[in-house]
Amino acid sequence: MNTAIYYFTGTGNSLKVAKDLSQYIEDATVIQIRQEKMSHQLSTNAKAIGFVVPTIFKGIPKLVSQFINHLEVKHQNPYIFAVSTHGDHNGMGIVCKQFKELLAKKSLPLSAYFAIQMPHNSPVKDHLTTNQEKERLFKEETIQIPVIAESIRNRQLISHTRNKFKSYLETLIYSYHAISTSKKPIDRGFYADEKCISCSICSKVCPAQNIEMADNKPKWKLENCQFCLACIQWCPKEAIQYNKETIGIERYHHPEIKVTELIID
Ligand SMILES: Cc1cc2nc3c(=O)[nH]c(=O)nc-3n(C[C@H](O)[C@H](O)[C@H](O)COP(=O)(O)O)c2cc1C
Ligand code: SF4
Ligand code: SF4
Repeated sequence: MNTAIYYFTGTGNSLKVAKDLSQYIEDATVIQIRQEKMSHQLSTNAKAIGFVVPTIFKGIPKLVSQFINHLEVKHQNPYIFAVSTHGDHNGMGIVCKQFKELLAKKSLPLSAYFAIQMPHNSPVKDHLTTNQEKERLFKEETIQIPVIAESIRNRQLISHTRNKFKSYLETLIYSYHAISTSKKPIDRGFYADEKCISCSICSKVCPAQNIEMADNKPKWKLENCQFCLACIQWCPKEAIQYNKETIGIERYHHPEIKVTELIID
């Protein structure tokens, strides 16, 4: 394998980007980041290594940091790139900075960083993306992908700098969420309502193994939630709510990604 593209996703945007990139890069393999993999030895011989992840509360999901810490990179001089998908205009937050710091701890470079805006996947009124905007973003993604892939094939070095004040504020927001969720688990707000048919899709799709089925209903474990919202967004009955905020709000997942692509049997 020449290129390993690791992705984390809740609702398929990052998987779509990873898959599309792999179409333009010879001998590229797309690999999901999931909790289950953390118990195995993780290593790669790939010459180029990519990470495609969503921005969540301005930064990267904790599981992605743990995965990178765990991953043994065997190539002596790898080309490493990161792509963040984000829902807000210019909403990539501190993702690039975090990747640089994580990789530097392993004496690895972040060779290039890219960001692609995709539909926002948070089912709250303020964040909903209109259908027209979704179409525009999907089209834009198909234009960006070949350009990014060409940079990767040419091993271009692409740095990204963020306004220092903005970066400082975003670091504060990210840290605030990290601290508050360590004190009070964020998944305390989830519950399944009477529409639940006990199909267990929510439990299977959770990349963090944070949902178990108890008495045929999902039970959030309150220990490892990444707040990716895969559970809420892939439930076929729209039976999962987060407090009262999500009641009556339309759900989203990338239209070209199937739930089966995210599930390990
Ligand atoms: C809890 C939560 C927090 C988010 N925070 C941000 C953010 O800080 N900036 C941003 O641009 N998008 C944010 N988003 C939107 C996602 O980054 C975006 O929709 C992404 O493409 C989802 O990718 P996925 O489908 O691969 O999970 C957030 C989404 C969720 C669910
Ligand atoms: S995915 Fe929805 S319907 Fe299926 S078990 Fe979970 S909450 Fe119930
Ligand atoms: S419980 Fe839901 S939001 Fe939390 S990590 Fe699992 S799928 Fe994502």
